[in-house]
Amino acid sequence: MDDNQPKRVVVAIDGPAGAGKSTIARRLAQRLGFTYIDTGAMYRAVALWALRQGVRFDDLHRMEQLAMAAAIELAPGRIHLNGEDVSEAIRTPEVSSGASQIAVIPGVRRAMVGKQREIGERSSVVMEGRDIGTVVFPDSDLKIYLTADPVERARRRSDQVKASGAVDAVPVAESVVVAELARRDRFDSSRATSPLQIAEDAIVVDSTKMSVDEVVEEVLSHL
Ligand code: DC
Repeated sequence: MDDNQPKRVVVAIDGPAGAGKSTIARRLAQRLGFTYIDTGAMYRAVALWALRQGVRFDDLHRMEQLAMAAAIELAPGRIHLNGEDVSEAIRTPEVSSGASQIAVIPGVRRAMVGKQREIGERSSVVMEGRDIGTVVFPDSDLKIYLTADPVERARRRSDQVKASGAVDAVPVAESVVVAELARRDRFDSSRATSPLQIAEDAIVVDSTKMSVDEVVEEVLSHL
């Protein structure tokens, strides 16, 4: 790297669904003037495309082709797939489950990690996901593993789905959301390729009883 170039900084935020990663990562990026990257949205976009094309989630070859061909553009809080704004369409329960299923496919992960590294090489980023500190940028400047207790995470996820205005965001009993989140966490943590795990050098932040501002300040204090 050219010594005159300002150093690019990578802040990695990993953790289970509903831990508050998106809210915190977005706020951190604003405060730091970095680019915010929601990598879960990228897996969701590929799952949405597969659903629309009628490609089965267990068709490894075609799923890898879709992941490589997908033109994904991220802007703060928005995501475009092949030129279409799919920010709301990717927030349905069907897409959540699909994203978790296709995230086990090594070829899909390779394609996504490649795109994520390209973005991180262009500018300083706050990148959130499951494998950012462990796989995508193992030499991140700061790694945060953000978690919260399962009931609190389910409550936050329900609020997020309601607020997203997703067409099929029907009200669901909290117990059902807790069970669905627990099932997806187990699946994301036990898969063979890049499972959700705490990087050795990550700082663990439990946000259960913390406000958004408190979490943001805590993370900034480590930077
Ligand atoms: O963060 P999220 O709920 O939007 O992510 C959707 C799914 O994508 C999640 O169940 C696991 C997968 N995912 C992943 O495997 N690796 C990432 N870096 C981000 C998400």
